Order: sequence, then structure tokens, then C-alpha cells
Amino acid sequence: MNNPVSLRTAALAMGVLAILGACTLIEWPPASGRAVYNQNCVMCHGTGGQGDGPLASELFSPPTDLTRLSLNNGGEFPRVAVLSHIDGYVRGENSSDAMPEFGPLLVGDNVLLETGEGVVTPTPKLLLAVANYLESLQITE
Ligand code: HEC
Repeated sequence: MNNPVSLRTAALAMGVLAILGACTLIEWPPASGRAVYNQNCVMCHGTGGQGDGPLASELFSPPTDLTRLSLNNGGEFPRVAVLSHIDGYVRGENSSDAMPEFGPLLVGDNVLLETGEGVVTPTPKLLLAVANYLESLQITE
């Protein structure tokens, strides 16, 4: 085992095994919007979405309380704005750069979504799934 080629092969094999090992920890594509959330959002927005994740205090801009999106929008879940924000496509004026853009991560199968005024937009399934999960977290008062 002490010629350089077999050492390199052994190192490569170990690398491949490490990657395979890591892959079994994270299921991809995630099975549900909740799984997407738990893998990618919980560290800032917190388990229940209230903006109290472990990283929240380290950020220069506080993560939004995601349970109040509907309340703050006259009782209607702002689906299109939420999709755009997560994707990184359009962000509101209160936006900082603290939150990563998830568009590149959530690509895959698309569904056709009516995004208002008769416009139908192909939308990644995973992106829609996480937005639907956020909708399920909304409080009413
Ligand atoms: C590194 C921390 C961080 C991560 C990770 C993160 N966010 Fe955010 N998020 C923020 C911050 C900070 C804001 C406040 C607005 C801003 O600065 O962009 C925010 C705002 C939002 C908003 C905007 C609400 C509004 O005002 O319209 C939504 C929706 C959202 N996040 C969803 C998510 C989802 C879903 C994920 C995971 C796919 C996620 N975030 C991951 C930090 C994060």
C-alpha cells in the first residue's frame, strides 16, 4: 500500500464512501415541504417558523416570523410574494441579503401555478411544497 497510486486510490475510495455516507443522512429530493423546511430554513426561522432559530441572533437582520405572513397581509397568505422571496426572484424592499436564495436548490419538476390575473407560471414542486408548508403554519390572531 505504499506506492503513491494505491494510496491515492485508497484516499479516493474513502472520499467516495464519505460522500455516500453523508447522502444517506439527507434525503434528496425531500419528501415534503416540511422536510425542505427542516433541512434549509429551521436554523434561522426556527422549528415553528417564529424567527427564533439558533442562527437568528447571529444575523444582521432578524429572520421574519413566518407564522404571521397571512395576518400581516389582511388574512390572505401572500403565496406569490413568498414563492418569489424563497426563490430569490423578487424580494421586497425590507429585504436584506441575510437569507440565501433557494431557487438554484429547489429546481426539479415543475407544476403550473396560477399566479394571478390569468398568468400561469411553471413553478418548481419543491418550492411550492415549502410555501404550502408555511401556509400550514399561519396563525389567525
Ligand atoms: C441564514 C438565515 C435564513 C435562512 C437559512 C432562511 N431564511 Fe428566510 N429570512 C431570513 C431573513 C433575515 C429574512 C428577513 C428578510 C430578509 O432579510 O430578506 C427572511 C425572510 C423570509 C421570508 C419573507 C417573508 C416576507 O416578509 O415576505 C420568507 C417567506 C422566508 N424567509 C422563508 C424562508 C424559507 C422557506 C427558507 C428555507 C427554504 C428560509 N427562509 C431560509 C433568513 C433566513
